[in-house]
Amino acid sequence: MEADPRLAAQPSPVRLPPGPYPARIPLPATGEVRSAADPVFRIRSMDPEDLPFVVTEHRRIFPDGFFARLGPAFLTAYTRTYMTGPHARGYVAEVNRQPVGFLVGVLDPAEHRRHVLQAHGRGLLLRALGGLALRPLLALRFLRTRLGRYARKLLPGRRPAAQPSGPPGPSGVTAVLAHVAVLERARSRGIGDALIQRFVGDAAAHGCVRVSLVTVAGPGGAGPYYESRGWIPVGQSRTPDGLRLATYDFPLRDGGPGGPR
Ligand SMILES: CC(C)(COP(=O)(O)OP(=O)(O)OC[C@H]1O[C@@H](n2cnc3c(N)ncnc32)[C@H](O)[C@@H]1OP(=O)(O)O)[C@@H](O)C(=O)NCCC(=O)NCCS
Repeated sequence: MEADPRLAAQPSPVRLPPGPYPARIPLPATGEVRSAADPVFRIRSMDPEDLPFVVTEHRRIFPDGFFARLGPAFLTAYTRTYMTGPHARGYVAEVNRQPVGFLVGVLDPAEHRRHVLQAHGRGLLLRALGGLALRPLLALRFLRTRLGRYARKLLPGRRPAAQPSGPPGPSGVTAVLAHVAVLERARSRGIGDALIQRFVGDAAAHGCVRVSLVTVAGPGGAGPYYESRGWIPVGQSRTPDGLRLATYDFPLRDGGPGGPR
């Protein structure tokens, strides 16, 4: 766990809520885990050598994301921040030492944003400008739909972004599961569960009150996957490009006036 003074002031995480993660498979560390079907897979922290795999698969599986559309140079630089930031996590799943899946997420979005700006801001900006220069249509779309929003978000003195509508929950840091993906040929062996379980466990150990994620709303998304694993739908939003997203929460702690969610 990182030395975060705010965490020291918080009560340590009490328990994980009922759900598949604590019960279905024991928390995988970096050791090997056997799924029901018995092929051995292993969940480990992401290394810089994993970047070509992660970036290629990210762009293939999530081609509509704005960062993916900025091109491999930008996405590689951005994905690297999950390894350098103390408040972010990246994991890779492998079978026979071959990567078959990955997860990236952030345990403290505000702290991670600060780290990204301080440690990587200039490099990311240059790569983003390079990506936009090579993709004029994307540049136009960026000017129309995102420039103002990014400026408000990144400039000092910004106002906090509006949260998706949903029931009020306990206050505290919300971890964000950004992306999880498993290669088609390795699916349905519990690897997705194990990657998510690892992140949820890290978020609980970090003192987060919940983990949140977005997935495409409706048939193209993974909503049913998360709902069958105890995640709670808490609202919907739209990307600047009009894509409908559903937000899901996985509560980690009781608290606040509403009690358990
Ligand atoms: C979602 C994903 C990570 C699951 O990986 P996995 O290793 O196959 O997951 P598990 O083995 O833990 O679970 C597989 C089960 O979930 C089901 N499942 C997978 N995706 C699903 C979806 N979108 N909706 C409903 N069920 C789904 C599978 O049918 C399978 O069911 P089975 O056990 O009855 O065969 C993988 O399907 C994937 O990479 N999808 C594309 C990217 C994506 O949607 N990511 C999530 C949004 S960030």
